[in-house]
Amino acid sequence: MKISPEITEFLNTPIRIGAKTAGRRLLVSPMAGYTHVAFRQLMEHFGGYGLLFTEMCSARAVPTENPEHSLVFRWRSGELSHLVCQIFGSDAQDMANAARRIEAEGFFGVDINFGCSVAAVCKRGCGAALLKTPDLAVAMVAAVRAAVSIPVSVKYRTGWTDDPRPAMEMARRFEAAGADAITFHPRMAPDRRTRPPRWEYIGMVKQAVRIPVFGNGDVFDAGDCIRMIQATGCDGISIGRIALAAPWTPALWTRGLVVDNDLYHFCAKRMMDLLQQHFEPVTAFRRFKNWAHFFAAGFKFGHRFSADIRGAKDIDAIYATVDRFFADIPERNPRPNMNLFR
Ligand SMILES: Cc1cc2nc3c(=O)[nH]c(=O)nc-3n(C[C@H](O)[C@H](O)[C@H](O)COP(=O)(O)O)c2cc1C
Repeated sequence: MKISPEITEFLNTPIRIGAKTAGRRLLVSPMAGYTHVAFRQLMEHFGGYGLLFTEMCSARAVPTENPEHSLVFRWRSGELSHLVCQIFGSDAQDMANAARRIEAEGFFGVDINFGCSVAAVCKRGCGAALLKTPDLAVAMVAAVRAAVSIPVSVKYRTGWTDDPRPAMEMARRFEAAGADAITFHPRMAPDRRTRPPRWEYIGMVKQAVRIPVFGNGDVFDAGDCIRMIQATGCDGISIGRIALAAPWTPALWTRGLVVDNDLYHFCAKRMMDLLQQHFEPVTAFRRFKNWAHFFAAGFKFGHRFSADIRGAKDIDAIYATVDRFFADIPERNPRPNMNLFR
């Protein structure tokens, strides 16, 4: 698809978030198990985004976490200026303590997770569960705001009913508590991306506040991007799964990257190399397998690639599978294969 100059100009316009400015208004969403230090280094190769996010990190663990050992609270110093650390927790003081460490380490900002609806997280009173206790969620934002001067953002969903009004009310209260930006994913909490997101709710949240609102959910190509901006008036876009499937996406939309056929082979090999550079072999192997599922969604016969990678017994077998699949130029899907994208 041809990228219109308007979309490129929009995404390339810097945006003020609290005390700092992001160079572009295109974010790559936090994704647990995926937006680790190796993936972010791969993204950096292509560039084109404004900010990257860590995986969600436990607020209770962050203050004493050792980045040498942690799988999630780990970074390269060169990325801190455009890296936001996302935290989850159930206690306002834990969140404030984590935010202090995050500020001291030099991250761009801290993001609070009110969107994760995985049972293990919600059962502990974290993530989207907090949308059921709005006073506590707001108290967390206020505690984090009082603790740090770096940008504080929140990422949340519609809530536990398909009604945009509580989400608008939350937006107002987060802003009043000192949040500098919002990323809003307009799906109900129990909905694990099966039904389409209701983009019109993003427009309603945007209308409710003056701080920047980033729209999120099912933006897979530049056409989606334009439609979301036009339909909602959002201040920027946050992309998730399409960045896993095609890490060059921001570069395509914001700096006119020309995709050549070697790119796919390069990307898969580089991902395996970087995972080995940053993690123990067992973790690197497992993380590649998980990522390959999303990467495969971009190819016509991606299910074969995904199955072969799943069956690989060791890292050598992964490289061999990658070399075999990309020996001929694989055909791309115009839209990701949704069977591989859940
Ligand atoms: C595998 C996976 C892990 C995710 N982990 C997180 C997370 O840790 N924190 C969070 O706020 N959202 C998380 N999300 C939600 C995404 O950030 C994003 O809101 C969602 O995928 C919708 O955006 P998309 O349609 O562009 O993928 C995750 C999504 C996926 C697919």
